[in-house]
Amino acid sequence: MAEPGSQGHTAGPLLLLLLLLLPPQALLEGPLLFVALVFRHGDRAPLASYPTDPHKEAASTLWPRGLGQLTKEGIRQQLELGRFLRRRYKAFLSPEYRREEVYIRSTDFDRTLESAQANLAGLFPEAAPGSPEADWKPIPVHTVPVSEDKLLRFPMRSCPRYHELLRESTEAADYQEALKGWTDFLTRLGNFTGLSLVGEPLRRAWKVLDTLICQRAHGLTLPSWASPDVLRTLSQISALDIRAHVGPPRAAEKAQLTGGILLDAILSNFSRAQSLGLPLKMVMYSAHDSTLLALQGALGLYDGNTPPYAACMAFEFRGSSREPEEEDGENVTVSLIYRNDTSSPPLPLKVPGCPAPCPLGRFQQLTAPARPPARGAPCHGSYESTSPPDRWSILWKQARGGQVHLCLTCPGPSSSSRIYPRRDQVKQHTQRRAMKQPFNRNSRRQKLQGCPPRPSTRSRSTLARGHVCSQGHQTQLEGASKGKGMA
Ligand SMILES: *[C@@H]1O[C@H](CO)[C@@H](O)[C@H](O)[C@H]1NC(C)=O
Ligand SMILES: *[C@@H]1O[C@H](CO)[C@@H](O)[C@H](O)[C@H]1NC(C)=O
Ligand SMILES: *[C@@H]1O[C@H](CO)[C@@H](O)[C@H](O)[C@H]1NC(C)=O
Ligand SMILES: *[C@@H]1O[C@H](CO)[C@@H](O)[C@H](O)[C@H]1NC(C)=O
Repeated sequence: MAEPGSQGHTAGPLLLLLLLLLPPQALLEGPLLFVALVFRHGDRAPLASYPTDPHKEAASTLWPRGLGQLTKEGIRQQLELGRFLRRRYKAFLSPEYRREEVYIRSTDFDRTLESAQANLAGLFPEAAPGSPEADWKPIPVHTVPVSEDKLLRFPMRSCPRYHELLRESTEAADYQEALKGWTDFLTRLGNFTGLSLVGEPLRRAWKVLDTLICQRAHGLTLPSWASPDVLRTLSQISALDIRAHVGPPRAAEKAQLTGGILLDAILSNFSRAQSLGLPLKMVMYSAHDSTLLALQGALGLYDGNTPPYAACMAFEFRGSSREPEEEDGENVTVSLIYRNDTSSPPLPLKVPGCPAPCPLGRFQQLTAPARPPARGAPCHGSYESTSPPDRWSILWKQARGGQVHLCLTCPGPSSSSRIYPRRDQVKQHTQRRAMKQPFNRNSRRQKLQGCPPRPSTRSRSTLARGHVCSQGHQTQLEGASKGKGMA
């Protein structure tokens, strides 16, 4: 694939030819407006060992930086990815890092933080290794604690709704059938590895596979039972497990709790930058195979392949040089690019149901079911939903029971505040109100206006920063939060 930076010089006659060949409604890719990148960390040490692992004793010499840590090879892979990105976005990005132009966020793991830095060293010459000390500039990588990371790591383990969805997948006939076919294999694997594979057989099988793949990648001899056949079966088992996590049934609802959150963030990063006219051009997310898999699940693109180290998915937003007649004002397209192999050009991915490049409106429409609903998704209490008032309506509903009066014109410290109450705070506040002051004095006035009472002075401290209002209109909903357990 041509790199965008290099196009446009010799394109004249070719473009004309292309125009003649294109079906009338096809969009032409215009100039790049915005890029979001999500990549997996580079090569790392295995995450774990198993009881009969022949290399177990030597682990501290084999992996001097520790299990799960980025290796030298991993650093090299990220540098290479960064250099590829520099070539691809040469004409798009400024030659040097500018903080208002590029934002980098990583999960809070050594290997992803280091990967981000190595990548940036490839992307920006002034952060490159060996650049003269006087010119060297480090580049910031942002993160949040793992327990608070809703964007790149998903709180699946602690999410009851997700467990329900997962159970539905693992109880499905095709899953059970596949599992049954592997019973003997898993029993043998248990014997070979000394692992107990009851309980979470697939997860443990995946860990064994991970250990073997890491060891093989570093030239270590695998035990004789770990034949190519066994490795192949292990990766099929692992794909079954992944499919249960990100695929059907109810893939979209699973995505709302996982990869759809990131997808939503990427779309809002773009639209925010556009609508506010920000100079932001690129967001980079340094994360894990699970992040990419969840994203693929949300896009309906999971195909059984696990993203290799330093695999990178790019969302390229472009102005389109022509407006299609049927979609009003649709002048932006989204292209998905997947780089999972350094020896060939990156793959353009096609979102099911949309031509590539996909008009943004169509893309938003197609991915809407996989993105969290405006009212927020279960297990994401502090997730910043794009339509905040509903959080307020839940508070309101809990406080009053029954019918929900959703007020979009309530008094608050700042109507432009984009900070919403965390669910635990809402709950606390509601309980307090229910116990001590079901309706305060000014509630009648506000009730007439369809507004929930202001938090009292007592409870305002918990909510002060989270009092959410937006101006403009007022509406009434029945059972706004019905059906979605906000557990
Ligand atoms: C595997 O099975 C063999 C034969 O039944 C037994 O001798 C061996 O101890 C088993 N290994 C493990 C790790 O359970
Ligand atoms: C991207 O979107 C997420 C979710 O809305 C937000 O937390 C993050 O700050 C945004 N990043 C930038 C650089 O705008
Ligand atoms: C797309 O059209 C909207 C109005 O319809 C305009 O505000 C925006 O700047 C346009 N964007 C591009 C990239 O042309
Ligand atoms: C890259 O991804 C594509 C699409 O998922 C897949 O067909 C291909 O086998 C992958 N290649 C590597 C090296 O992982």
